Amino acid sequence: MQKQWRLAARPDSIPDASHFDLVEVPLPQLEPGKAIVKTLYLGVAPVMLRYMRNETDFESPLALGSVMAGRGVAQVIESDCSSLPMGAIVQARLGWQEYALIDSSDRPAPFLLPTDLPLSHGIGAVSLSGITALVGVRDIGLIKDTDRMLVSGAAGGVGSHVAEIAKALGAQSVVGIAGGPEKCSRLKTEMNYDEVIDYKNEDVNSRLDVAFPDGIDLYFDNVGGPLLDNVLGRLRRRARIVICGSISEYLVEKEAKHRFANLQNLGRQDAKMEGFFVFDYEDTYADCIDTLADWVRQGVLNPVEHISHGIETMPDALADLYLGNNVGVRMVKVAEPALLS
Ligand SMILES: NC(=O)c1ccc[n+]([C@@H]2O[C@H](COP(=O)([O-])OP(=O)(O)OC[C@H]3O[C@@H](n4cnc5c(N)ncnc54)[C@H](OP(=O)(O)O)[C@@H]3O)[C@@H](O)[C@H]2O)c1
Repeated sequence: MQKQWRLAARPDSIPDASHFDLVEVPLPQLEPGKAIVKTLYLGVAPVMLRYMRNETDFESPLALGSVMAGRGVAQVIESDCSSLPMGAIVQARLGWQEYALIDSSDRPAPFLLPTDLPLSHGIGAVSLSGITALVGVRDIGLIKDTDRMLVSGAAGGVGSHVAEIAKALGAQSVVGIAGGPEKCSRLKTEMNYDEVIDYKNEDVNSRLDVAFPDGIDLYFDNVGGPLLDNVLGRLRRRARIVICGSISEYLVEKEAKHRFANLQNLGRQDAKMEGFFVFDYEDTYADCIDTLADWVRQGVLNPVEHISHGIETMPDALADLYLGNNVGVRMVKVAEPALLS
């Protein structure tokens, strides 16, 4: 038997254990062309709230009672699929469960992880969080070495990689915004941010005035809302804004969402603002993982991970994202790999 979390209710506030049922069910049976995997780590992401509310079109609609959607690191323990050999360690769409039947035709397809690095990095630095940061900084942000760069949500899963990646690509200095003194201290000591702004305890306007007296060239935005509007009012010529996410607005109803006052500044400053979705960059995953894994091996990229233990902790892990409790990539360790004969 295995444990599995199923969606029990659609949240209209921060998701918690009351929105899920933990059930015990038999292990899946192997099907032609597929593989059975043992879950080792599961990731959580802000977007999961939107899966629970059926607000995305890239995750299949989640009926109440179905296994909660999510990706993780897993070991192939039975296989009828040549691209998913026995024993392989993969990052895949698993769902919140201890064993899963996976399919190489999923999009994004399961991908193999480097085996010389800690398996937990397959949730963060050498996986979708790291790839999101890399694509955002390099391909959307088109970073230049003269850029004065700002990052919001800087101590989160994606944000914790952004300054190191930006510097690996030539940036001179990067300013991060996060909530609370502990996070802000760790932004400097562990994540290579040069300046930090604690938006929960400091006057963001005056700190931005001092940090960017001539304006902002590149903004990596994880939070959206009023802070994005503030930055729009501070753009330098040919600035770029990378819309990675808008976590401050995911629980805000449509009518109450922030109305932007400074959008016209994009035109005035010849600037661009561009969103992107990491699933659309699947063709680049192998190259991105090679780059990110090399940076980790060289000590250029130092993954910050926030790990709880046991599949029972999944709802709390998801809630932590909305409560601001996580530092770095929030994940759950579910099991050790099996010893396969
Ligand atoms: N474009 C893509 O393909 C892609 C891929 C992955 C993620 N994303 C997006 O990127 C963003 C970061 O994702 P992540 O996985 O790294 O999550 P994350 O940043 O670890 O998310 C949790 C953090 O968000 C901050 N937060 C929570 N509620 C907030 C609010 N109301 N206002 C401001 N900050 C708030 C908290 O940090 P503080 O304590 O500092 O507030 C919290 O620790 C999210 O918006 C996510 O949806 C986009």
